[in-house]
Amino acid sequence: MTADARDGDDEIKGFGAASIVACPNGPLLVRGDVELLDGDGHPVPRTRPTIALCRCGASAVKPFCDGTHKLMRFRTEE
Ligand code: FES
Repeated sequence: MTADARDGDDEIKGFGAASIVACPNGPLLVRGDVELLDGDGHPVPRTRPTIALCRCGASAVKPFCDGTHKLMRFRTEE
């Protein structure tokens, strides 16, 4: 583990209140001290204080966004 990764872990633990922002035509941005669980209830490792969760369904690294929503022109509104 690098010093940068350790610093990121420390930030997550004391990051404060959680917030979720639904980006227009893009992912959900999750900030703050939130535990991320998979469909079976197992923790998903998190290394950054802000994470982007896929909501288009096309990401190759679910549950995280990998930017594919731009290629497929995902739209959240008509
Ligand atoms: S929202 Fe970005 S890849 Fe799905």
